[in-house]
Amino acid sequence: MKPRAPRNRTLTLTEDERIRLSRKLLRVPQEWTADAMADRVIQADLFDVLDQLPEQFADLLILDPPYNLDKQFADRKFGRRSHDEYLQYLESWFPRLLKVLRPHASVYLCGDWQCSAADFQVMAKYLKVRNRITWQREKGRGAQNNWKNCCEDIWFATVGNKYYFDVDAVKQKRRVIAPYRENGRPKDWQETSEGNYRLTCPSNFWDDISVPYWSMPENTDHPTQKPEKLLAKLILASSRPGDLVFDPFLGSGTTAVVAKKLGRHFTGIEINQEYCRWALKRLERAETDTTIQGYRDGVFWERNTLKKPPRK
Ligand SMILES: C[S@@+](CC[C@H](N)C(=O)[O-])C[C@H]1O[C@@H](n2cnc3c(N)ncnc32)[C@H](O)[C@@H]1O
Repeated sequence: MKPRAPRNRTLTLTEDERIRLSRKLLRVPQEWTADAMADRVIQADLFDVLDQLPEQFADLLILDPPYNLDKQFADRKFGRRSHDEYLQYLESWFPRLLKVLRPHASVYLCGDWQCSAADFQVMAKYLKVRNRITWQREKGRGAQNNWKNCCEDIWFATVGNKYYFDVDAVKQKRRVIAPYRENGRPKDWQETSEGNYRLTCPSNFWDDISVPYWSMPENTDHPTQKPEKLLAKLILASSRPGDLVFDPFLGSGTTAVVAKKLGRHFTGIEINQEYCRWALKRLERAETDTTIQGYRDGVFWERNTLKKPPRK
């Protein structure tokens, strides 16, 4: 591994940590019960274990599968395919996974424009689609003969019409551009020493979250790591404290880490052992550090408005 720059905070593991964390990994649970799987990272191929998963154990399902792109995940490559073939890939596991959902559960499925149509098709076939969130993730490779690809979609669906959604938990703190006063008092906004802000209901366009980068403590070398702030919004809106959040494509562990920081239970499945170890190390850190960049005092802050907390 190349030496890191001094301010680079990307997670690294020593050989001793690798050995220690490997022992913490669950490979095949002794019994496939919700209790045995709660708060565990399971190293497995989802396709091998799908039919053994218990019924109705998850309140929230977060799905971040490989997108329809050529992408190397450590020693495994996911190959770009036609729309129909990607749809077939989704159909090979998505319907079989739904038995894990409780009747009031919510599901989020991530993708980019190249798989979004297939994602919608499969979500609409089996669940009640409620919304499509567009996340402007900023980073993307510029192209000479096309628009730069810098957005992703997150489809939101529920099992039934009764579901949990806590809009107050995901309010956004925005700078007030035209501070309107009534009788000299701020109308619907707050005057603070840090500036003038309004608490707003979040829309389905998210432009306040950047991808993790090397100077952020949450960063790992995973090629498609999601930001903790993004997962925090999904988990806070669609689960209660104590609920169980299930992520069967766990990657570097973001869903599990954020669930733990927010007082939810989690179960994660990931095929790659090193990614599982990164997840476990992040989970250990979350025992003492529950901060989530961009989320403080129960609100989400617009990009670049939150003063940095002291460095730990
Ligand atoms: C898009 S990434 C998820 C990234 C994750 N959300 C994060 O924040 O790090 C998809 C992950 O699914 C894993 N994966 C792909 N196929 C799998 C399978 N059949 N069973 C379990 N994990 C799989 C890949 O190794 C990869 O880490």
